[in-house]
Amino acid sequence: MAQEKPKLFSHKTIELNVGWLIVCSVLVISFAGLAQIVPLFFQHSTTVPVEGVEPYDSLRLVGRDIYIREGCVGCHSQQVRMLSSEVQRYGPYSLAGEGVYEHPFLWGSKRTGPDLARVGQRYSDDWHRVHLRDPRAVVKESNMPAYPWLQHNSVENVDVQAKMRALRRIGVPYTDEQIDAAPEALKGKTEEDAIVAYLQGLGVAGREAAARAVMEGGVQ
Ligand code: HEC
Repeated sequence: MAQEKPKLFSHKTIELNVGWLIVCSVLVISFAGLAQIVPLFFQHSTTVPVEGVEPYDSLRLVGRDIYIREGCVGCHSQQVRMLSSEVQRYGPYSLAGEGVYEHPFLWGSKRTGPDLARVGQRYSDDWHRVHLRDPRAVVKESNMPAYPWLQHNSVENVDVQAKMRALRRIGVPYTDEQIDAAPEALKGKTEEDAIVAYLQGLGVAGREAAARAVMEGGVQ
């Protein structure tokens, strides 16, 4: 029986010709990627901050950088997923609109310790200080490293204005007044003060927004 010549776009031609298979795969994946990603730039839920979410004040911004420097993200995620077990343990699930001022995101992917997306105001400042200096003092079985040096390092000389200007360039709406006043808020503060301030703010506005949504009969 004479073999029929396969058509250019037939399954057989694509499977027999690796180059053609690669070209077609790249085309399909690029198109699918664009179809998923491009609409996100225009969706309000990913670009408009959740009500109450504000850009970090200068002390928290510096605390966030210390969190990055110390590698906390290697053990802690900041993303409560939409699973009932997570919501019961940590609080309302995270929304994209809570992260519009996050550059870079600290969602993380490793949970040696608990998720921290809603840790703000769960403990007192003093609890955090004791815990950072010696985690075993408050949680006997903890394997979190101690960070006793943070209390001794001053943040007065951090150039926070440069950071705020850089963030403003990429869309974080800091005002000139906020930038002018920023160094004043760092006077007399230590790295420990900064990271505690950062932790105490995590997820608070989002939790309050979720609570309001429940009051108004919404989901969550
Ligand atoms: C090696 C992994 C590891 C690293 C790195 C780490 N942690 Fe932890 N963290 C844990 C573990 C495990 C726990 C749970 C036990 C405990 O509370 O100490 C925890 C608990 C916490 C808690 C209490 C959370 C809660 O809901 O009870 C906070 C806050 C915290 N870590 C902050 C930090 C900060 C800030 C850093 C960086 C300076 C950091 N962690 C670095 C492992 C880590």
